[in-house]
Amino acid sequence: MSANSTNAPDRTHTNSLKWTQYPDGVIPVWVADTDFQAPEPILAALRAKLEHGVLGYEFPQKALLETIAARMDSLYGWSVAPEAVVATPGIIAAFNAAAWATCKAGQGILTQPPAYPPFLKVAGNVGLVDQFAQLCLEERDGLLSYRIDWDVFRAALHSGQARTGLFLLCNPHNPTGQVHSRAELLGMAELCLENDVCIVADEIHSELLLGGSKHTPIASLSKDIERNTITLVAPSKTYNIPGLFCGFAIIPDPQLRSKFKAASDRMIHHVSSLSLIAAQAAYSGECDEWLNAMRARLTANRDWLVATLRASFPLLRTTLPQATYLAWLDCHRLQLREQTPYDFFLEQARVAFTKGEDFGPGGQGFVRLNFGTTPQVLQGAMERVGAALAAAVH
Ligand SMILES: Cc1ncc(COP(=O)(O)O)c(C=O)c1O
Repeated sequence: MSANSTNAPDRTHTNSLKWTQYPDGVIPVWVADTDFQAPEPILAALRAKLEHGVLGYEFPQKALLETIAARMDSLYGWSVAPEAVVATPGIIAAFNAAAWATCKAGQGILTQPPAYPPFLKVAGNVGLVDQFAQLCLEERDGLLSYRIDWDVFRAALHSGQARTGLFLLCNPHNPTGQVHSRAELLGMAELCLENDVCIVADEIHSELLLGGSKHTPIASLSKDIERNTITLVAPSKTYNIPGLFCGFAIIPDPQLRSKFKAASDRMIHHVSSLSLIAAQAAYSGECDEWLNAMRARLTANRDWLVATLRASFPLLRTTLPQATYLAWLDCHRLQLREQTPYDFFLEQARVAFTKGEDFGPGGQGFVRLNFGTTPQVLQGAMERVGAALAAAVH
C-alpha cells in the first residue's frame, strides 16, 4: 500500500463543495468526491509543474493519448489507436457535446433512470426529447438490485414521437453502483445498432471496482459497436481529482470523432494543463498500487455499510454496489408523509445525502450515500441516522 493511499486530511476549512454546502456539524455524504488524498505520483507531477512555474496553454501530448490507449488494452484487451482519444474538460461537458454532435433538435435521448442528474439535463440543453427506459427494481435476499426490462427498453426507443438519436449509458451505474454484464451490454448495443442509435457510454466509474467485479467497455464488444460508440473515461473519480476537470472521449470511428470534435470546439475548448499532467501520472501505471489499496478501502466501507444496514436498519434497504463509492438507499419503509427522506435525514440526523428525486423516475423515496470517506465519518453518519430513526419510531 503506498504511503498516502488512504490519507484523509481535514477538509472542513477548505473550499470543498462537499464540506461547505451545509452548516457546520452536518456530516456530508453527498457529492461524488472522496475524502482521500490523490496518489503521490499525481501530486509529485503537479508539484514539479508548479515549481517550473509557467502555466501557459498546452495541448494533450501524443504520449498521453498513447498512455490512455495502452491502458484500455492492458485493462480490457481493447485495442484503440491513440488518435481515437480526445481530451475533454470533464465528462458532463463531453456528453453534452456528444449530444450536440450526434442529434438533431427534436430527436430523442434514451437514458435508464434512476439516472445521474446531469443526464436528465441534456435534453433541455440540446433541444432533445427525454426517453426513459427505467431500470427494474428487484429484491433478493433482502438486497435490492436493478435489471433491464427489455420490453421497457424497446418501447422507450423512438417513443414520444421522436426518433432516438442517442443512448446515454452509465456503466458502472450511478446511483445504483451496478456493473452491467456482457450479455446486457450486448443486448443494448445490438438494439442501438438495429435502430440506428448512437451510444455514448459514460464509463467514468469503470476503474472503481469493488470486490471481484469486472468492467467491460461496451465499445470493446465488436467492431460494429465500436464504430457506433463514444466512450467517456476519466481519472477524476478513480484518483479523486474531479476538481481538475479532465476526461477523455474514445471515438475510434473517424467521422463520429470529427463530429464530436467540431461540437466540442464550438463550446468547450481546452483542457487545463495541470489536469493533463495529472492524467498522465494517473494512467501511467504508477498509481496502480494506490488504486488497489483504495479499492480495498472502498470495498471494506461498502461491506461494513451493507452489513450494518441489514443487521440494524430494517427500515432502509440497499443495493450491493459492485463499483463506485455510492450506495442507493430505499427509504419507502420509513413512510414519511410530509417530508422527503433527504429532508428528514438532514433535519433529524444532520446528515446530508443526495436527494433521490434528482435522479428522475424511480428516484423518489431514495437517497444516495457517498461512502468514499473514512470509517470514522461513515460510522458517525450511520450512528446519527440510527438515532434519528429510533427517535422517529418512538
Ligand atoms: C456518471 C457520472 N458522470 C459524470 C460525472 C461528472 O464528471 P465531470 O466532473 O468530469 O464532468 C459524474 C460525477 O459524479 C458521474 O457520476
